[in-house]
Amino acid sequence: MNTADFISKKVTETIQKSTYTWQTPSNIALVKYWGKSNPQIPKNASISFTLNNCHTITTIEFEKISKSNTVTFELFFEGKKKDDFKPKIAKFFERIQEYCPYILEYKMVISSENSFPHSSGIASSASGMSAIAMCLLSLEKALNPDLTPDFINKKASFLARLGSGSASRSIEGPLVVWGEHPEIEGSSDLFAIKFPYKVHQIFENYCDTILLVDKGEKQVSSTVGHNLMHNHPYAEQRFKQANENLAKISKILTNGDIKEFITLVESEALTLHAMMLTSNPYFILMKPNTLEVINKIWEYREQNNSNICFTLDAGANVHVLYPTSEKTQVELFIKNVLADYCQNNQYITDNVGFGSKLM
Ligand code: PMV
Repeated sequence: MNTADFISKKVTETIQKSTYTWQTPSNIALVKYWGKSNPQIPKNASISFTLNNCHTITTIEFEKISKSNTVTFELFFEGKKKDDFKPKIAKFFERIQEYCPYILEYKMVISSENSFPHSSGIASSASGMSAIAMCLLSLEKALNPDLTPDFINKKASFLARLGSGSASRSIEGPLVVWGEHPEIEGSSDLFAIKFPYKVHQIFENYCDTILLVDKGEKQVSSTVGHNLMHNHPYAEQRFKQANENLAKISKILTNGDIKEFITLVESEALTLHAMMLTSNPYFILMKPNTLEVINKIWEYREQNNSNICFTLDAGANVHVLYPTSEKTQVELFIKNVLADYCQNNQYITDNVGFGSKLM
């Protein structure tokens, strides 16, 4: 499929008023996306676990108006009008207008809430953008009932990608690939797809506890971080490594080699941060407690012959990953040991989920 396939041309129905509510998840990358070209084309392929408990619920009320030159919308977050989020959403609508021209003929009232605490350091752009995209696709389907479920998912991912790259991976689950890769059939730079191969049962229902090490706003946004990969001395090697890691993890997910999984996932997390440390200007998003936690995880793994491991996002929080078979013991370890390194002892217990849900 190419970009032109996502331009909505056919409208057969008239919709005066309609409301849709979608719940869409956050996701955590195992092989990381860091570096892009215009318009939101990733420099390498990435793969993520879709989360279950960390999600956004968004309702959009659409009301037909006479066609306008700009998108007309109001925005509420957790019941309150949120004008400071508006420029980001307006920019998103501007980018997708070409593919969804019908949005110029509706007034939209968008109401959104997150399941995770606001400013917890958990990126809400992935779940937030994908939720808006799903609501738009519900309207598009009402206007053109010929749309297939497969096209709807692809287009929602395509639109979400234009809002935030990683949001493209927040439509489906449990494992999602974004970025064209020779060994992943059907993969594309334009939208994400469900990992198309059989996954070993050890990775089913995998657990992810997110340790809220630092809930403050990041000093360097991911937009700035991505841009610093242009002219980065190690960028080309990194993009190549990420694509090789994707080929490796694809085999690991099928054969269930959890030791290899741990090595690859932790190396990806540290490499992402190594790219930040070696950018010009350089920056550090980890905090002292991020490192304390990593060392505690390694110690626990060694002493208990455990398969616990960690990954990191573009921030200080730590995602603790473990198979369901270790849930009871690891959750005790988190509660008794790792919670001490979290702000206000806060963490979120989550597991792998299956993607967006119409409410
Ligand atoms: O989607 P963005 O532009 O916020 O970038 C996210 C990048 C990482 O979260 C660090 C990695 C990833 O693949 O999700």
